[in-house]
Amino acid sequence: MPAQAHVEPPPVDSTSVFKDDIFKGKVLFCTGGGSGICKAMTEAVMRHGAHAAIVGRKLDRLQASANDLASATGNQCLAVQADVRNPKQLQEAVAKTIEKFGRIDFVICGAAGNFLAPISKLSENGFRTVIEIDTIGTYNTIKATLPHLRASKGSYIHVSATLHYKGTPYQVHVSAAKAAVDATSAVLAVEEGPHGVRSNVIAPGPIAGTEGMDRLSAKGPDAKNFAWATPLGRYGDVKDVANATVFLFSDAARYITGQVIPVDGGCEHLRTEP
Ligand code: HXC
Repeated sequence: MPAQAHVEPPPVDSTSVFKDDIFKGKVLFCTGGGSGICKAMTEAVMRHGAHAAIVGRKLDRLQASANDLASATGNQCLAVQADVRNPKQLQEAVAKTIEKFGRIDFVICGAAGNFLAPISKLSENGFRTVIEIDTIGTYNTIKATLPHLRASKGSYIHVSATLHYKGTPYQVHVSAAKAAVDATSAVLAVEEGPHGVRSNVIAPGPIAGTEGMDRLSAKGPDAKNFAWATPLGRYGDVKDVANATVFLFSDAARYITGQVIPVDGGCEHLRTEP
């Protein structure tokens, strides 16, 4: 029997599932929100009524993204330049956000660095750089925002990965960094639960069209084969991650904290050994 042609299902917008105004009056603070997955996460939260501040190193790109996000959603988006490795810059970014919007309800810790390098070739500084961006950047973001999240009884989402569940070659720096991010979120959830603050992790799998995937995926026909080999038969879309974000920030998830939610089409469970 001939194989059936595979038809990619169109991405689903969260607004087709959740009410438009569930985040009205809320404010999101998102590191790494200028591009890729975190920009899509920010857009989805804004589409449900929130204003946002997006934080990154390159102000030009950030400002262009903030303009896109505001015009796409009709809500306000503030671009704030800061390097998550610098606690003082992050505190200033938070202060600017509070000055503009008066509160922070949601935080996405999304700024991340990545490249492929085997341990034998990876320099100490290369390893340290990714730990500093992903792990220490997450810590710095938590420290700068926590008083405001306590005040709003808010919620954190940390953007991690699934590659550290096993030994992923050429990814020791990211694997170590993301394992620490997962652990940090769990501790945050336990310590801050009594203050009404939730903390969860979204672990994206292979998400099409992102800088991370572009840098990491095999080029050529192998890449397509890998998509077919995922349990759902396709790469993810940034909207798949955005929709999980809307759910986790919403009251529908109010009893969910300290969890890691892979958005990976089931790859985590795929047995690839012969
Ligand atoms: C080997 C590298 C390297 C590479 C940087 N380094 N790129 N080593 N191969 N391709 C080393 C440098 O040689 C240097 O060490 C050290 O890292 C610091 O590099 P700098 O360029 O000086 O640092 P910086 O300007 O701060 O930028 C570093 C970086 C950037 C942010 C890590 O290189 C980067 O990767 N940007 C991409 C951001 C990105 O794609 N984000 C999405 C992540 S997706 P030496 O010893 O020479 O001084 C993600 C999801 C994972 O995380 C899961 C997907 C499935």
